[in-house]
Amino acid sequence: MSSGDFDLACGGIAGESGLEDIEKKDFATRAVHAGERVKAGDFVPISTPIYSSATFLYEHLHEIDAIASGERAGFTYTRHDNPTNAALEKAVCSLEGGTGSSIAVSYASGMAAILLGLMAAGAAQGTVVAAAQDLYGVTMKFLTDVAERWGVRVEFVDLFSRDGIEGMWRLRPKVLLLESLSNPLLRIPDLRSLIAAGHSRQCRVLVDNTFTTPLLVRPLEMGADFVVHSATKYLGGHGDLTGGILVARREFAEEVRHFSRLVGAVLGPFEAWLTLRGVKTLPLRFVRQCENAQQLAEWLEKHPRIERVYYPGLPSHPDAGRCRAFFQGGLAGGVVTIVIRDAGREEVYRFANSLELFLKATSLGDVQSLLLYPAISSHRDLAPKHRERLGITDGMVRLSVGIEAVEDLEADLEQALAKI
Ligand SMILES: Cc1ncc(COP(=O)(O)O)c(C=O)c1O
Repeated sequence: MSSGDFDLACGGIAGESGLEDIEKKDFATRAVHAGERVKAGDFVPISTPIYSSATFLYEHLHEIDAIASGERAGFTYTRHDNPTNAALEKAVCSLEGGTGSSIAVSYASGMAAILLGLMAAGAAQGTVVAAAQDLYGVTMKFLTDVAERWGVRVEFVDLFSRDGIEGMWRLRPKVLLLESLSNPLLRIPDLRSLIAAGHSRQCRVLVDNTFTTPLLVRPLEMGADFVVHSATKYLGGHGDLTGGILVARREFAEEVRHFSRLVGAVLGPFEAWLTLRGVKTLPLRFVRQCENAQQLAEWLEKHPRIERVYYPGLPSHPDAGRCRAFFQGGLAGGVVTIVIRDAGREEVYRFANSLELFLKATSLGDVQSLLLYPAISSHRDLAPKHRERLGITDGMVRLSVGIEAVEDLEADLEQALAKI
């Protein structure tokens, strides 16, 4: 059978009346219908196509009814479900939790995934949401500026202090939101014990796994209820999309789907396709990024212009033990945070502006190496005193290490440090 057998002659669903002799229709009718809705035949595309379609057709109306009622699988409306997104969601489910025990929904951004995760976990008026005090700055802003306005009581907690944790449980939180690897200090909370303690108190645990990816950490396997990703970062991996994904234990499938359809912040099929494409090379990219990061961290720690390196793969990091215990494959992530000796904003600007390979971009996880200055970007919205309390100083720079040759990255940092 050649592709010519699927030509435009028919242009309608088999058996649909009227469109078989499309050539006899008026120009305006042909403009709308010609070439469309040709059955795919018996081939299977090697890569899931971009189903850029708002709705999906079935021969009989009762099939749409059966899909809407959940009697059979299918697609009716892209805000509910789309075949390209479904392929991505299945892939991420498989990597995070296994398709038998979890479900996933993809969204237009990581922030949307966090919103839907909180809603599905039961954050509502009058409930307490406990959140790590070193969450991504915008997540913190979302909690104070949106969730609190909707009557949620938000408590930021120091998850590295016994008093902080005990105080948190006394508030009987409905949800605990934390990151598997924090930013920019790269702290690793004691995920296993926090999840177990949460469950014994009917608290649902939502883990932002953006920085570690399921290659390093799989919170659902540790018992967490929800995992979120900014797919903009490692899952996509090429700096060419904005997206988010929420993976939930199967028992929350109804809540997740229900709220997702109502909020409607779904990922477009094109971005879903790009993310699915990115996911295929995640293991290759991420292992290389982690290896490059480890090598640079060791080198930077000995550099006279560097005051301190934060990287959990270094014995000097306070969570080096947890990194070894929780992270798979002896890897420690692709982000390295440095403090430049005696540097304020001016010196940091000189350093950053001298770099050639590390691009000054507000993101992480891309194949290209990136530099972010927390004081003016990820943590810009926090008051200087708050930043200081979190240990985020004006000499601190976050490096997201890419897949370039590590010797070139080292040489780039060396020449820029020399120009401060
Ligand atoms: C840890 C973390 N979670 C969530 C987000 C939000 O993701 P997005 O920018 O895709 O909305 C980010 C963005 O930087 C992040 O770093």
